[in-house]
Amino acid sequence: MTRIRPLWRTVLAPAAALCTGCAAISPDAPPFPHAVVAADHIIASRAGAEMLRKGGNAVDAAVATSFALSVTRPYSCGIGGGGFMVIHFNDDPVHGTRSIALNYRETAPAAIGPDYFVNADDPSASTLGGRAVGVPGNVAGLLYALEHFGTLDRQTVLAPAIRAAAYGFEADENYVSTARSVAARFDEHPEFKRRFAYVWTAFLHSGEIRVGDLVRLPEQAAALRLIAEHGREAFYDGAIADAIVRAVHADGGSMTHDDLRAYRIRQTQPLTFRFASWRFLAMPPPSSGGVAMAQTLGLFTRHLAATRGRPSSSAMFVHALTEALKHAFADRAEWLGDPDFVDVPIHQLLDRASLDAMASSFDPARTHEPGAYGSRAPPPDDRGTSHYCVVDAHGNAVAATETINLSFGSRLPVPEFGFCLNNQLDDFTALPGVPNAFGLTQSDRNLPAPGKRPLSSMSPTIVLDADGRVVIVAGAAGGPTIITSTIEIILEVLLSDSTAAEAMNASRFHHQWAPDVLYMEPEWFDVRDANGVLVVDRLSAMGHRVQRRDSIAAANLIRRSARGWDAAGDPRKGGVPAGY
Ligand code: GLY
Repeated sequence: MTRIRPLWRTVLAPAAALCTGCAAISPDAPPFPHAVVAADHIIASRAGAEMLRKGGNAVDAAVATSFALSVTRPYSCGIGGGGFMVIHFNDDPVHGTRSIALNYRETAPAAIGPDYFVNADDPSASTLGGRAVGVPGNVAGLLYALEHFGTLDRQTVLAPAIRAAAYGFEADENYVSTARSVAARFDEHPEFKRRFAYVWTAFLHSGEIRVGDLVRLPEQAAALRLIAEHGREAFYDGAIADAIVRAVHADGGSMTHDDLRAYRIRQTQPLTFRFASWRFLAMPPPSSGGVAMAQTLGLFTRHLAATRGRPSSSAMFVHALTEALKHAFADRAEWLGDPDFVDVPIHQLLDRASLDAMASSFDPARTHEPGAYGSRAPPPDDRGTSHYCVVDAHGNAVAATETINLSFGSRLPVPEFGFCLNNQLDDFTALPGVPNAFGLTQSDRNLPAPGKRPLSSMSPTIVLDADGRVVIVAGAAGGPTIITSTIEIILEVLLSDSTAAEAMNASRFHHQWAPDVLYMEPEWFDVRDANGVLVVDRLSAMGHRVQRRDSIAAANLIRRSARGWDAAGDPRKGGVPAGY
Protein backbone atom coordinates (compact mmCIF):
# COMPACT_ATOMS: atom_id res chain seq x y z
CA MET A 1 0.00 0.00 0.00
CA THR A 2 2.87 2.39 0.56
CA ARG A 3 3.27 2.24 -3.21
CA ILE A 4 0.04 4.16 -3.83
CA ARG A 5 -0.07 6.37 -0.77
CA PRO A 6 1.79 9.32 -2.33
CA LEU A 7 -0.40 9.12 -5.40
CA TRP A 8 -3.58 9.52 -3.42
CA ARG A 9 -2.09 12.43 -1.53
CA THR A 10 -1.17 13.97 -4.91
CA VAL A 11 -4.74 13.70 -6.04
CA LEU A 12 -6.51 15.22 -3.13
CA ALA A 13 -4.16 17.60 -1.40
CA PRO A 14 -4.47 20.37 -3.99
CA ALA A 15 -8.25 20.07 -3.90
CA ALA A 16 -8.63 20.38 -0.18
CA ALA A 17 -11.05 23.28 -0.42
CA LEU A 18 -14.69 22.41 -0.43
CA CYS A 19 -17.84 22.24 -2.47
CA THR A 20 -19.34 25.57 -3.51
CA GLY A 21 -21.11 27.22 -0.61
CA CYS A 22 -19.53 24.99 2.06
CA ALA A 23 -16.96 26.09 4.62
CA ALA A 24 -14.32 23.43 5.26
CA ILE A 25 -14.45 22.02 8.77
CA SER A 26 -11.52 22.54 11.08
CA PRO A 27 -8.85 19.86 10.81
CA ASP A 28 -7.83 20.60 14.42
CA ALA A 29 -10.84 19.14 16.24
CA PRO A 30 -9.55 16.95 19.08
CA PRO A 31 -10.55 13.28 19.04
CA PHE A 32 -13.04 11.81 21.51
CA PRO A 33 -11.10 9.62 23.97
CA HIS A 34 -13.87 7.08 24.66
CA ALA A 35 -16.90 7.02 22.41
CA VAL A 36 -18.48 9.07 19.64
CA VAL A 37 -21.41 9.48 17.26
CA ALA A 38 -21.12 11.20 13.88
CA ALA A 39 -24.49 12.07 12.37
CA ASP A 40 -25.99 14.59 9.97
CA HIS A 41 -27.35 16.82 12.75
CA ILE A 42 -25.82 17.84 16.07
CA ILE A 43 -29.04 17.05 17.97
CA ALA A 44 -28.92 13.50 16.60
CA SER A 45 -25.21 13.08 17.43
CA ARG A 46 -25.92 14.34 20.95
CA ALA A 47 -28.89 11.98 21.32
CA GLY A 48 -26.57 9.05 20.65
CA ALA A 49 -23.80 10.46 22.84
CA GLU A 50 -26.32 10.81 25.69
CA MET A 51 -26.90 7.02 25.52
CA LEU A 52 -23.16 6.35 25.48
CA ARG A 53 -22.66 8.48 28.60
CA LYS A 54 -25.46 6.60 30.34
CA GLY A 55 -23.48 3.39 29.74
CA GLY A 56 -25.45 2.31 26.67
CA ASN A 57 -23.65 0.52 23.88
CA ALA A 58 -23.17 1.47 20.23
CA VAL A 59 -26.55 0.00 19.25
CA ASP A 60 -28.42 2.00 21.93
CA ALA A 61 -26.67 5.11 20.64
CA ALA A 62 -27.46 4.27 17.02
CA VAL A 63 -31.16 3.82 17.75
CA ALA A 64 -31.37 7.11 19.69
CA THR A 65 -29.49 8.87 16.88
CA SER A 66 -31.77 7.50 14.20
CA PHE A 67 -35.00 8.51 15.94
CA ALA A 68 -33.55 12.00 16.47
CA LEU A 69 -32.64 12.20 12.76
CA SER A 70 -36.23 11.32 11.93
CA VAL A 71 -37.16 14.63 13.59
CA THR A 72 -34.26 16.89 12.61
CA ARG A 73 -33.64 15.63 9.03
CA PRO A 74 -37.26 14.86 8.08
CA TYR A 75 -36.47 15.26 4.36
CA SER A 76 -33.73 12.63 4.43
CA CYS A 77 -34.81 9.71 6.55
CA GLY A 78 -37.09 8.77 9.40
CA ILE A 79 -39.88 6.55 10.58
CA GLY A 80 -41.52 6.68 7.14
CA GLY A 81 -38.45 5.09 5.51
CA GLY A 82 -36.02 2.22 5.81
CA GLY A 83 -32.33 1.43 5.99
CA PHE A 84 -29.39 -0.85 6.60
CA MET A 85 -27.21 -1.25 9.69
CA VAL A 86 -23.83 -2.97 10.04
CA ILE A 87 -22.87 -3.79 13.64
CA HIS A 88 -19.50 -5.04 14.88
CA PHE A 89 -19.06 -6.22 18.45
CA ASN A 90 -15.46 -6.17 19.53
CA ASP A 91 -14.81 -8.63 22.34
CA ASP A 92 -18.05 -7.39 23.92
CA PRO A 93 -18.95 -8.77 27.38
CA VAL A 94 -22.36 -9.97 26.07
CA HIS A 95 -21.89 -10.55 22.34
CA GLY A 96 -18.21 -11.45 22.13
CA THR A 97 -16.68 -10.67 18.73
CA ARG A 98 -19.23 -10.87 15.97
CA SER A 99 -20.66 -8.85 13.08
CA ILE A 100 -24.27 -8.45 12.03
CA ALA A 101 -26.03 -6.81 9.08
CA LEU A 102 -29.62 -5.66 9.52
CA ASN A 103 -31.77 -5.10 6.45
CA TYR A 104 -34.80 -2.97 7.22
CA ARG A 105 -35.26 -1.71 3.69
CA GLU A 106 -38.84 -0.95 2.61
CA THR A 107 -40.81 -3.67 0.78
CA ALA A 108 -43.25 -3.39 -2.11
CA PRO A 109 -46.90 -3.69 -1.01
CA ALA A 110 -48.76 -6.84 -2.17
CA ALA A 111 -50.49 -4.94 -4.98
CA ILE A 112 -47.23 -3.87 -6.65
CA GLY A 113 -46.18 -6.15 -9.50
CA PRO A 114 -43.60 -5.68 -12.31
CA ASP A 115 -46.01 -3.67 -14.50
CA TYR A 116 -47.42 -1.44 -11.79
CA PHE A 117 -45.60 1.71 -12.91
CA VAL A 118 -45.61 0.78 -16.60
CA ASN A 119 -49.41 0.78 -16.42
CA ALA A 120 -49.65 3.95 -14.33
CA ASP A 121 -51.12 6.92 -16.16
CA ASP A 122 -48.85 9.35 -14.28
CA PRO A 123 -45.10 9.34 -15.14
CA SER A 124 -44.30 10.61 -11.65
CA ALA A 125 -46.14 7.71 -9.95
CA SER A 126 -42.92 6.09 -8.70
CA THR A 127 -41.61 9.28 -7.13
CA LEU A 128 -44.58 11.33 -5.98
CA GLY A 129 -47.50 10.49 -3.72
CA GLY A 130 -49.22 7.34 -2.52
CA ARG A 131 -48.21 4.94 -5.28
CA ALA A 132 -44.48 5.54 -4.69
CA VAL A 133 -44.57 4.41 -1.05
CA GLY A 134 -42.89 1.21 0.12
CA VAL A 135 -43.78 -0.42 3.45
CA PRO A 136 -41.55 1.43 5.93
CA GLY A 137 -38.91 -0.63 7.76
CA ASN A 138 -37.17 1.87 10.01
CA VAL A 139 -39.23 1.39 13.17
CA ALA A 140 -39.06 -2.43 12.88
CA GLY A 141 -35.32 -2.33 12.22
CA LEU A 142 -34.44 0.02 15.06
CA LEU A 143 -36.60 -1.76 17.63
CA TYR A 144 -35.20 -5.15 16.54
CA ALA A 145 -31.66 -3.81 16.92
CA LEU A 146 -32.49 -2.42 20.36
CA GLU A 147 -34.19 -5.59 21.58
CA HIS A 148 -31.51 -8.01 20.34
CA PHE A 149 -28.31 -6.00 20.61
CA GLY A 150 -28.99 -2.94 22.80
CA THR A 151 -29.01 -2.59 26.58
CA LEU A 152 -31.34 0.35 27.30
CA ASP A 153 -35.14 0.53 27.20
CA ARG A 154 -37.32 2.12 24.52
CA GLN A 155 -38.35 5.09 26.67
CA THR A 156 -34.72 6.01 27.30
CA VAL A 157 -33.53 5.81 23.69
CA LEU A 158 -36.56 7.62 22.30
CA ALA A 159 -36.49 10.44 24.87
CA PRO A 160 -34.13 12.81 22.99
CA ALA A 161 -36.12 12.48 19.76
CA ILE A 162 -39.39 13.11 21.57
CA ARG A 163 -37.88 16.23 23.17
CA ALA A 164 -36.65 17.53 19.80
CA ALA A 165 -40.02 16.94 18.15
CA ALA A 166 -42.08 18.40 20.99
CA TYR A 167 -39.98 21.48 21.80
CA GLY A 168 -38.63 22.02 18.31
CA PHE A 169 -35.23 22.56 16.73
CA GLU A 170 -33.75 25.45 14.79
CA ALA A 171 -33.68 25.13 11.01
CA ASP A 172 -30.04 25.14 9.85
CA GLU A 173 -28.66 26.01 6.41
CA ASN A 174 -29.05 22.51 5.04
CA TYR A 175 -32.67 22.37 6.22
CA VAL A 176 -33.47 25.75 4.73
CA SER A 177 -31.78 25.18 1.36
CA THR A 178 -33.60 21.85 1.00
CA ALA A 179 -36.93 23.26 2.13
CA ARG A 180 -36.63 26.23 -0.21
CA SER A 181 -35.82 24.10 -3.24
CA VAL A 182 -38.80 21.84 -2.47
CA ALA A 183 -40.98 24.93 -1.89
CA ALA A 184 -39.98 26.17 -5.36
CA ARG A 185 -41.41 22.93 -6.79
CA PHE A 186 -44.62 23.55 -4.82
CA ASP A 187 -44.79 27.03 -6.36
CA GLU A 188 -44.46 25.48 -9.84
CA HIS A 189 -47.24 23.02 -8.96
CA PRO A 190 -49.59 24.94 -6.66
CA GLU A 191 -51.85 21.87 -6.32
CA PHE A 192 -49.06 20.29 -4.19
CA LYS A 193 -49.82 22.85 -1.47
CA ARG A 194 -53.19 21.21 -0.94
CA ARG A 195 -52.18 17.66 -1.84
CA PHE A 196 -49.21 17.65 0.56
CA ALA A 197 -50.59 20.34 2.89
CA TYR A 198 -48.78 19.21 6.05
CA VAL A 199 -45.42 19.30 4.25
CA TRP A 200 -46.16 22.80 3.00
CA THR A 201 -47.10 24.20 6.40
CA ALA A 202 -45.20 22.17 9.02
CA PHE A 203 -41.91 21.46 7.18
CA LEU A 204 -41.68 24.29 4.66
CA HIS A 205 -43.42 27.01 6.72
CA SER A 206 -45.38 27.88 3.58
CA GLY A 207 -42.14 28.56 1.70
CA GLU A 208 -41.02 31.21 4.22
CA ILE A 209 -38.61 29.16 6.33
CA ARG A 210 -35.41 30.92 7.41
CA VAL A 211 -32.25 29.81 9.20
CA GLY A 212 -32.91 29.87 12.95
CA ASP A 213 -36.68 29.38 12.67
CA LEU A 214 -38.08 26.89 15.14
CA VAL A 215 -39.47 23.71 13.58
CA ARG A 216 -41.84 21.94 15.98
CA LEU A 217 -43.31 18.55 15.15
CA PRO A 218 -45.74 17.76 18.01
CA GLU A 219 -47.46 15.18 15.83
CA GLN A 220 -44.23 13.23 15.37
CA ALA A 221 -43.65 13.53 19.12
CA ALA A 222 -47.01 11.77 19.57
CA ALA A 223 -45.95 8.98 17.18
CA LEU A 224 -42.64 8.53 18.98
CA ARG A 225 -44.41 8.40 22.37
CA LEU A 226 -46.70 5.65 21.05
CA ILE A 227 -43.67 3.72 19.75
CA ALA A 228 -41.90 4.18 23.11
CA GLU A 229 -44.94 2.87 24.95
CA HIS A 230 -46.22 0.08 22.68
CA GLY A 231 -43.24 -0.82 20.52
CA ARG A 232 -43.49 -2.07 16.96
CA GLU A 233 -47.25 -2.74 17.22
CA ALA A 234 -47.98 0.98 17.51
CA PHE A 235 -46.53 1.57 14.08
CA TYR A 236 -47.46 -1.59 12.18
CA ASP A 237 -50.82 -2.42 13.74
CA GLY A 238 -52.14 0.56 15.67
CA ALA A 239 -53.13 4.18 15.27
CA ILE A 240 -50.04 5.02 13.20
CA ALA A 241 -50.76 2.13 10.80
CA ASP A 242 -54.32 3.40 10.39
CA ALA A 243 -53.04 6.88 9.55
CA ILE A 244 -50.46 5.55 7.04
CA VAL A 245 -53.03 3.45 5.19
CA ARG A 246 -55.47 6.37 5.17
CA ALA A 247 -52.87 8.77 3.73
CA VAL A 248 -51.65 6.32 1.06
CA HIS A 249 -55.18 5.40 -0.07
CA ALA A 250 -56.36 9.00 -0.18
CA ASP A 251 -53.50 9.69 -2.62
CA GLY A 252 -54.14 6.74 -4.94
CA GLY A 253 -51.77 4.16 -3.42
CA SER A 254 -52.59 0.62 -2.42
CA MET A 255 -50.73 -0.21 0.80
CA THR A 256 -52.89 -2.16 3.25
CA HIS A 257 -52.87 -3.01 6.94
CA ASP A 258 -51.79 -6.52 5.93
CA ASP A 259 -48.73 -5.09 4.15
CA LEU A 260 -47.74 -3.27 7.33
CA ARG A 261 -48.42 -6.25 9.61
CA ALA A 262 -46.41 -8.54 7.31
CA TYR A 263 -43.29 -6.37 7.37
CA ARG A 264 -40.22 -8.26 8.62
CA ILE A 265 -36.61 -7.20 8.90
CA ARG A 266 -33.77 -9.48 7.76
CA GLN A 267 -30.80 -10.25 9.96
CA THR A 268 -27.83 -11.41 7.94
CA GLN A 269 -24.03 -11.40 7.79
CA PRO A 270 -22.10 -8.41 6.46
CA LEU A 271 -20.38 -8.90 3.12
CA THR A 272 -16.69 -9.07 3.98
CA PHE A 273 -13.67 -8.52 1.77
CA ARG A 274 -10.04 -7.53 2.09
CA PHE A 275 -8.24 -4.51 0.74
CA ALA A 276 -4.50 -4.81 1.50
CA SER A 277 -4.36 -5.77 5.18
CA TRP A 278 -7.73 -4.24 6.05
CA ARG A 279 -10.99 -6.17 6.37
CA PHE A 280 -14.18 -4.44 5.24
CA LEU A 281 -17.60 -5.24 6.75
CA ALA A 282 -20.14 -4.00 4.22
CA MET A 283 -23.81 -4.40 3.37
CA PRO A 284 -24.84 -7.29 1.08
CA PRO A 285 -27.72 -7.05 -1.46
CA PRO A 286 -30.30 -5.60 -1.72
CA SER A 287 -27.68 -2.98 -1.03
CA SER A 288 -25.40 -2.70 -4.04
CA GLY A 289 -22.86 -0.95 -1.79
CA GLY A 290 -20.85 -3.92 -0.53
CA VAL A 291 -20.52 -5.66 -3.89
CA ALA A 292 -19.71 -2.41 -5.71
CA MET A 293 -17.10 -1.37 -3.14
CA ALA A 294 -15.45 -4.80 -3.22
CA GLN A 295 -15.34 -4.79 -7.02
CA THR A 296 -14.15 -1.19 -7.23
CA LEU A 297 -11.32 -1.61 -4.75
CA GLY A 298 -10.27 -4.94 -6.30
CA LEU A 299 -10.17 -3.41 -9.79
CA PHE A 300 -8.58 -0.16 -8.61
CA THR A 301 -5.63 -2.07 -7.15
CA ARG A 302 -5.21 -3.98 -10.44
CA HIS A 303 -5.51 -0.78 -12.52
CA LEU A 304 -2.82 0.93 -10.47
CA ALA A 305 -0.55 -2.06 -10.99
CA ALA A 306 -1.11 -1.66 -14.73
CA THR A 307 0.08 1.96 -14.61
CA ARG A 308 3.46 0.93 -13.14
CA GLY A 309 6.30 2.44 -15.16
CA ARG A 310 4.19 5.39 -16.33
CA PRO A 311 4.53 8.80 -14.73
CA SER A 312 2.14 8.98 -11.78
CA SER A 313 -0.31 11.82 -11.86
CA SER A 314 -3.56 12.94 -10.33
CA ALA A 315 -5.34 12.33 -13.61
CA MET A 316 -4.04 8.75 -13.78
CA PHE A 317 -5.27 8.11 -10.27
CA VAL A 318 -8.75 9.47 -10.99
CA HIS A 319 -8.78 7.49 -14.25
CA ALA A 320 -7.84 4.22 -12.50
CA LEU A 321 -10.60 4.62 -9.90
CA THR A 322 -13.17 5.84 -12.43
CA GLU A 323 -12.57 2.85 -14.70
CA ALA A 324 -13.12 0.59 -11.68
CA LEU A 325 -16.34 2.40 -10.77
CA LYS A 326 -17.65 2.06 -14.33
CA HIS A 327 -17.24 -1.73 -14.18
CA ALA A 328 -18.89 -1.90 -10.77
CA PHE A 329 -21.86 0.26 -11.77
CA ALA A 330 -22.30 -1.66 -15.04
CA ASP A 331 -22.55 -4.88 -13.02
CA ARG A 332 -24.86 -3.18 -10.54
CA ALA A 333 -27.20 -2.33 -13.42
CA GLU A 334 -27.15 -5.86 -14.79
CA TRP A 335 -26.82 -8.29 -11.90
CA LEU A 336 -28.03 -6.91 -8.60
CA GLY A 337 -31.44 -7.12 -6.93
CA ASP A 338 -33.13 -8.50 -3.81
CA PRO A 339 -31.58 -11.95 -3.15
CA ASP A 340 -34.87 -13.11 -1.56
CA PHE A 341 -36.38 -12.92 -5.06
CA VAL A 342 -33.65 -13.23 -7.68
CA ASP A 343 -30.35 -14.99 -8.03
CA VAL A 344 -27.56 -12.51 -7.30
CA PRO A 345 -24.21 -14.03 -8.35
CA ILE A 346 -22.11 -12.32 -5.69
CA HIS A 347 -19.34 -14.91 -5.75
CA GLN A 348 -18.90 -14.73 -9.53
CA LEU A 349 -18.90 -10.92 -9.42
CA LEU A 350 -16.16 -10.87 -6.78
CA ASP A 351 -14.27 -13.86 -8.07
CA ARG A 352 -10.54 -13.20 -8.51
CA ALA A 353 -10.51 -14.48 -12.11
CA SER A 354 -13.50 -12.34 -13.01
CA LEU A 355 -11.83 -9.20 -11.55
CA ASP A 356 -8.61 -10.09 -13.41
CA ALA A 357 -10.56 -10.43 -16.67
CA MET A 358 -12.34 -7.10 -16.18
CA ALA A 359 -9.10 -5.34 -15.23
CA SER A 360 -7.37 -6.69 -18.33
CA SER A 361 -9.35 -4.22 -20.45
CA PHE A 362 -7.94 -1.26 -18.51
CA ASP A 363 -6.14 1.18 -20.78
CA PRO A 364 -4.02 3.74 -18.89
CA ALA A 365 -4.29 6.14 -21.83
CA ARG A 366 -8.04 6.30 -22.40
CA THR A 367 -11.50 5.41 -21.23
CA HIS A 368 -13.74 3.10 -23.27
CA GLU A 369 -16.85 4.03 -25.19
CA PRO A 370 -20.01 3.93 -23.08
CA GLY A 371 -22.63 1.24 -23.46
CA ALA A 372 -25.83 2.04 -25.27
CA TYR A 373 -27.89 2.56 -22.07
CA GLY A 374 -28.63 5.37 -19.74
CA SER A 375 -29.63 8.97 -19.70
CA ARG A 376 -27.17 11.81 -20.00
CA ALA A 377 -29.22 13.93 -17.65
CA PRO A 378 -27.33 14.62 -14.42
CA PRO A 379 -28.75 13.00 -11.29
CA PRO A 380 -30.85 15.29 -9.09
CA ASP A 381 -29.38 17.34 -6.27
CA ASP A 382 -30.98 15.09 -3.71
CA ARG A 383 -31.10 15.67 0.05
CA GLY A 384 -32.65 12.33 0.88
CA THR A 385 -30.89 9.69 2.97
CA SER A 386 -28.79 10.03 6.09
CA HIS A 387 -25.80 8.11 7.39
CA TYR A 388 -24.51 7.89 10.95
CA CYS A 389 -21.58 6.16 12.67
CA VAL A 390 -21.11 5.14 16.31
CA VAL A 391 -18.25 3.73 18.35
CA ASP A 392 -18.77 2.95 22.04
CA ALA A 393 -16.34 2.67 24.94
CA HIS A 394 -15.79 -1.07 24.24
CA GLY A 395 -14.78 -0.36 20.64
CA ASN A 396 -18.07 -1.80 19.30
CA ALA A 397 -19.25 -0.01 16.18
CA VAL A 398 -22.40 0.68 14.20
CA ALA A 399 -22.61 2.07 10.68
CA ALA A 400 -26.15 2.74 9.48
CA THR A 401 -27.69 4.45 6.48
CA GLU A 402 -31.40 5.21 6.33
CA THR A 403 -33.59 6.94 3.82
CA ILE A 404 -36.99 8.00 2.62
CA ASN A 405 -35.31 8.26 -0.83
CA LEU A 406 -35.65 11.74 -2.41
CA SER A 407 -36.06 14.97 -0.42
CA PHE A 408 -39.23 14.56 1.71
CA GLY A 409 -39.65 11.13 0.07
CA SER A 410 -42.94 10.79 -1.78
CA ARG A 411 -43.83 14.19 -0.26
CA LEU A 412 -46.86 12.34 1.13
CA PRO A 413 -47.18 13.20 4.81
CA VAL A 414 -48.95 11.31 7.57
CA PRO A 415 -50.30 14.54 9.07
CA GLU A 416 -51.63 13.04 12.30
CA PHE A 417 -48.11 11.85 13.13
CA GLY A 418 -45.88 14.46 11.52
CA PHE A 419 -43.68 12.49 9.12
CA CYS A 420 -43.27 11.89 5.40
CA LEU A 421 -43.58 8.54 3.67
CA ASN A 422 -40.79 7.30 1.45
CA ASN A 423 -40.79 7.01 -2.35
CA GLN A 424 -38.49 4.01 -2.27
CA LEU A 425 -40.39 2.18 -5.02
CA ASP A 426 -38.54 4.42 -7.51
CA ASP A 427 -35.39 2.47 -6.61
CA PHE A 428 -36.94 -0.53 -8.39
CA THR A 429 -36.72 -0.84 -12.17
CA ALA A 430 -40.02 1.05 -12.23
CA LEU A 431 -40.00 1.66 -16.00
CA PRO A 432 -37.69 -0.82 -17.76
CA GLY A 433 -35.04 0.93 -19.86
CA VAL A 434 -35.81 4.32 -18.31
CA PRO A 435 -33.29 5.73 -15.80
CA ASN A 436 -34.65 6.31 -12.29
CA ALA A 437 -34.40 9.56 -10.35
CA PHE A 438 -30.66 8.95 -9.85
CA GLY A 439 -30.03 8.30 -13.55
CA LEU A 440 -29.61 4.57 -12.84
CA THR A 441 -30.80 2.13 -15.48
CA GLN A 442 -31.41 -1.28 -13.92
CA SER A 443 -32.28 -4.80 -15.02
CA ASP A 444 -35.26 -7.12 -14.67
CA ARG A 445 -33.69 -8.52 -11.53
CA ASN A 446 -34.78 -5.32 -9.83
CA LEU A 447 -38.38 -5.27 -11.10
CA PRO A 448 -40.98 -4.66 -8.38
CA ALA A 449 -42.79 -7.64 -6.83
CA PRO A 450 -44.96 -8.02 -3.71
CA GLY A 451 -42.77 -8.06 -0.60
CA LYS A 452 -39.57 -7.41 -2.61
CA ARG A 453 -37.01 -4.79 -1.57
CA PRO A 454 -35.63 -2.36 -4.16
CA LEU A 455 -31.92 -2.28 -4.90
CA SER A 456 -30.07 0.39 -2.94
CA SER A 457 -26.72 2.16 -3.00
CA MET A 458 -26.60 2.66 0.76
CA SER A 459 -23.19 1.46 1.95
CA PRO A 460 -22.72 1.48 5.72
CA THR A 461 -19.18 0.19 6.20
CA ILE A 462 -16.87 -0.79 9.05
CA VAL A 463 -13.15 -1.39 8.43
CA LEU A 464 -11.05 -3.57 10.73
CA ASP A 465 -7.27 -3.66 10.90
CA ALA A 466 -5.14 -6.81 10.75
CA ASP A 467 -5.68 -7.28 14.52
CA GLY A 468 -9.47 -7.12 14.11
CA ARG A 469 -9.82 -3.70 15.72
CA VAL A 470 -12.28 -1.18 14.32
CA VAL A 471 -10.29 1.50 12.48
CA ILE A 472 -12.98 3.21 10.38
CA VAL A 473 -16.76 3.56 10.49
CA ALA A 474 -18.11 5.28 7.38
CA GLY A 475 -20.94 5.81 4.95
CA ALA A 476 -22.83 8.50 3.12
CA ALA A 477 -26.08 9.81 1.70
CA GLY A 478 -26.67 10.67 -1.95
CA GLY A 479 -27.99 7.80 -4.09
CA PRO A 480 -25.26 6.17 -6.20
CA THR A 481 -22.71 8.79 -5.11
CA ILE A 482 -22.87 7.02 -1.73
CA ILE A 483 -20.72 4.19 -3.06
CA THR A 484 -18.09 6.47 -4.60
CA SER A 485 -17.85 8.91 -1.72
CA THR A 486 -17.65 6.13 0.88
CA ILE A 487 -14.75 4.60 -1.08
CA GLU A 488 -13.05 8.00 -1.45
CA ILE A 489 -13.20 9.00 2.23
CA ILE A 490 -12.00 5.54 3.30
CA LEU A 491 -9.09 5.66 0.82
CA GLU A 492 -8.22 9.13 2.09
CA VAL A 493 -7.77 7.72 5.59
CA LEU A 494 -6.18 4.38 4.68
CA LEU A 495 -3.79 5.57 1.99
CA SER A 496 -3.00 9.14 3.05
CA ASP A 497 -3.41 8.82 6.80
CA SER A 498 -5.75 11.82 6.61
CA THR A 499 -7.72 12.97 9.62
CA ALA A 500 -11.49 12.61 9.54
CA ALA A 501 -11.85 16.34 8.79
CA GLU A 502 -9.30 16.22 5.98
CA ALA A 503 -11.05 13.23 4.44
CA MET A 504 -14.36 15.04 4.68
CA ASN A 505 -13.05 18.31 3.26
CA ALA A 506 -11.39 16.68 0.25
CA SER A 507 -13.16 17.30 -3.04
CA ARG A 508 -14.91 14.34 -4.63
CA PHE A 509 -15.62 12.87 -8.02
CA HIS A 510 -18.18 10.29 -9.15
CA HIS A 511 -18.87 8.03 -12.12
CA GLN A 512 -21.77 5.57 -12.29
CA TRP A 513 -21.17 4.16 -15.81
CA ALA A 514 -24.48 5.43 -17.13
CA PRO A 515 -24.82 8.27 -17.83
CA ASP A 516 -21.25 8.30 -19.16
CA VAL A 517 -20.20 11.37 -17.21
CA LEU A 518 -17.37 11.92 -14.75
CA TYR A 519 -18.82 14.34 -12.19
CA MET A 520 -16.25 16.41 -10.28
CA GLU A 521 -16.67 18.95 -7.51
CA PRO A 522 -15.71 22.50 -8.56
CA GLU A 523 -12.26 22.65 -6.96
CA TRP A 524 -11.07 19.91 -9.31
CA PHE A 525 -11.31 22.35 -12.20
CA ASP A 526 -8.39 24.35 -10.75
CA VAL A 527 -6.09 21.41 -9.98
CA ARG A 528 -2.98 21.14 -12.19
CA ASP A 529 -0.49 18.30 -12.45
CA ALA A 530 3.29 18.62 -12.09
CA ASN A 531 3.54 19.90 -15.68
CA GLY A 532 0.98 22.63 -15.06
CA VAL A 533 -1.74 20.93 -17.11
CA LEU A 534 -5.25 20.98 -15.68
CA VAL A 535 -6.24 17.53 -14.39
CA VAL A 536 -9.67 17.86 -16.01
CA ASP A 537 -7.97 18.51 -19.38
CA ARG A 538 -5.87 15.36 -18.95
CA LEU A 539 -9.02 13.39 -18.14
CA SER A 540 -10.87 14.84 -21.13
CA ALA A 541 -7.96 13.86 -23.36
CA MET A 542 -8.42 10.27 -22.11
CA GLY A 543 -12.00 10.42 -23.34
CA HIS A 544 -13.79 11.16 -20.05
CA ARG A 545 -16.79 13.43 -20.30
CA VAL A 546 -16.06 15.63 -17.31
CA GLN A 547 -18.87 17.65 -15.78
CA ARG A 548 -18.91 19.99 -12.81
CA ARG A 549 -21.19 19.08 -9.93
CA ASP A 550 -21.46 21.46 -6.99
CA SER A 551 -21.67 18.90 -4.22
CA ILE A 552 -21.26 15.13 -4.19
CA ALA A 553 -22.84 13.12 -1.33
CA ALA A 554 -22.98 13.80 2.40
CA ALA A 555 -20.80 11.44 4.42
CA ASN A 556 -19.91 10.75 8.04
CA LEU A 557 -16.72 9.19 9.30
CA ILE A 558 -15.11 7.94 12.50
CA ARG A 559 -11.42 7.00 12.45
CA ARG A 560 -9.25 5.41 15.13
CA SER A 561 -6.36 7.73 16.02
CA ALA A 562 -3.56 7.53 18.54
CA ARG A 563 -5.50 9.86 20.86
CA GLY A 564 -8.98 8.38 20.55
CA TRP A 565 -11.82 8.49 18.02
CA ASP A 566 -11.42 11.16 15.38
CA ALA A 567 -14.86 11.91 13.90
CA ALA A 568 -16.33 14.29 11.35
CA GLY A 569 -19.67 15.08 9.84
CA ASP A 570 -19.87 16.36 6.31
CA PRO A 571 -19.77 20.15 5.92
CA ARG A 572 -21.88 19.60 2.80
CA LYS A 573 -24.78 18.79 5.14
CA GLY A 574 -23.81 20.42 8.43
CA GLY A 575 -23.14 17.19 10.31
CA VAL A 576 -21.35 17.53 13.66
CA PRO A 577 -20.12 14.67 15.87
CA ALA A 578 -20.63 14.35 19.64
CA GLY A 579 -19.03 12.11 22.22
CA TYR A 580 -16.82 12.05 25.28
N1 GLY B 1 -32.80 5.55 -2.03
C1 GLY B 1 -31.45 5.57 -2.41
C2 GLY B 1 -30.77 4.29 -2.22
O1 GLY B 1 -31.20 3.49 -1.41
O2 GLY B 1 -29.80 4.03 -2.89
